[in-house]
Amino acid sequence: MNRTGKLRLGVLGSGKGSNFVAVAGACARGELPAEVAIVMSDVADAGILARAAGQGIAARFIPPGKFRTKLDEEAEAAYIGALREARVDLVVLAGFMRILKGDFLKAFPQRVINIHPSLLPSFPGLEAWKQALDYGVKFTGCTVHFVDQGVDTGAIIAQQTVPVLDGDTAESLHARIQQAEHQLYPVAIRLMAEGRIEVRGRSVVTRA
Ligand code: GRF
Repeated sequence: MNRTGKLRLGVLGSGKGSNFVAVAGACARGELPAEVAIVMSDVADAGILARAAGQGIAARFIPPGKFRTKLDEEAEAAYIGALREARVDLVVLAGFMRILKGDFLKAFPQRVINIHPSLLPSFPGLEAWKQALDYGVKFTGCTVHFVDQGVDTGAIIAQQTVPVLDGDTAESLHARIQQAEHQLYPVAIRLMAEGRIEVRGRSVVTRA
């Protein structure tokens, strides 16, 4: 928390950063008692870094190290160090393409959340919108969840449904899911910032 009682967010992303823009915009408009303290990426030229810098928010590229799907030990320590230095209360994953485990999660217990483009537990993993289309479901959506040791397996904080329409392509469905994400992520972060989230094992209860 900063002196004004705002939750300090550290946003991690590897891509274009549209969810970051939605969250930062909601913060700037005073829709949630939070502010983005730092944005970090494992991709040097990721759009998310340029968008953060353009808004005057600290933006840091930290190389992920020697592995393809996770941070190596040195990189993990560098991410933890930068987040602590920025006095981050909540780590917000927004399209971060590295699996975070062990020491990282221990450094921020119950303080790492992610947004996934499906109604979990359906369609975890990559290109969830394409998985939904290929399966033929009539509704899919997006999920905000705590990050645990698994892939897209943590306790669910909030979900929003999105219809699959006749004639949808992977692109059109993805775009509709992203619109829902941009609404849902700020709402879920607001619940966290207001201290209204209570975790009871796998169940996350929202207090009025
Ligand atoms: C989102 O669709 C999110 O669900 C997934 O990665 C994507 C990030 O998009 N985890 P953006 O970089 O926020 O535009």
